[in-house]
Amino acid sequence: MALIKTIGVLTSGGDAPGMNAALRAVTRSAIFNGLRVKAIYRGFRGLLTGEIAEFKTQNVSNIIQQGGTVIKTARCKEFQTPEGRRQAYERIKKEGIDAMVVIGGDGTLTGARIFASEFNFPIVGVPCTIDNDIYGTDSTVGYDTALNTILDAVDKIRDTASSHERLFFIEVMGRDAGFLALNGAIASGAEAAIIPETTTEVDQLAEFVKSGFRKSKNSSIVLVAESDVTGGAMHYADRVKNEYPDYDVRVVILGHVQRGGSPSAYDRILASRMGNAAVEALIDGQRNIMMGIDDDQIVAVPLSRAIKNDKPLDRELLKVLRTLSI
Ligand code: F6P
Repeated sequence: MALIKTIGVLTSGGDAPGMNAALRAVTRSAIFNGLRVKAIYRGFRGLLTGEIAEFKTQNVSNIIQQGGTVIKTARCKEFQTPEGRRQAYERIKKEGIDAMVVIGGDGTLTGARIFASEFNFPIVGVPCTIDNDIYGTDSTVGYDTALNTILDAVDKIRDTASSHERLFFIEVMGRDAGFLALNGAIASGAEAAIIPETTTEVDQLAEFVKSGFRKSKNSSIVLVAESDVTGGAMHYADRVKNEYPDYDVRVVILGHVQRGGSPSAYDRILASRMGNAAVEALIDGQRNIMMGIDDDQIVAVPLSRAIKNDKPLDRELLKVLRTLSI
């Protein structure tokens, strides 16, 4: 296997708090080990446009605490075509990049895996997404911060919900995964969570109303995962207006506020450990893996496994929420 001298690094897909911490960790770990680092701007698009710059340690100073990503991010349509990937590979050769660390979520890791197998090119992924929907890792970078942002918002909404004795449907992100909604509901003391994983099994609204929350409470908070499967918070509010017209209902869609902000201590440490491990894995000759965290240990997960499997939801959590929300 050819010796790695230069590592490329990019952030791609939806941004997540902690991406900068991961970028810093990759850059500094590579330089610490005598390698050169080239930062690729705007995700895979930078490989097509040539927006690539050599990074020194100073380029990543003062960014560990910043949300977003200083090297920008994008979802690149051209990279989804064989022609686009061929062009990207040409650029990588021209730049003398021998291996890459890609920082991002499901779509990013899928693109990375295809590229790695088409060109037999060494890539290691760092899972960074607020959705926490990646198989093979207990947590993704950004999830903890987003969860805390949700709590902050729900705590505030609860004040007004309880003063006015209202029912609030609060929509949170997660694409097609209910991790943010379910754990957000447990942590904020919400009465229920409507999540895509169980939407087809039961009518979650009917269950919630049947649970008789009104016996002991005059206000309620329900977290709804955004998803075509659940239909989102508006859908449930409309249903309540029609089916239970005596309830005073309001909707809050938290949206992109969940994607910003300074990363939590947990996310900074996770990003630092994973970024460091990604570089060491490449130096050790590993390739086409993603770094994960399992039982507080950093582990290597084959990219193919991380992408092929849906991360299972811990059903115990549903029970905990149901039990504690009486
Ligand atoms: O994957 C992260 C995520 O924030 C999802 O939760 C959400 O569905 C999506 O990205 C929103 O994407 P965009 O920023 O393109 O609107």
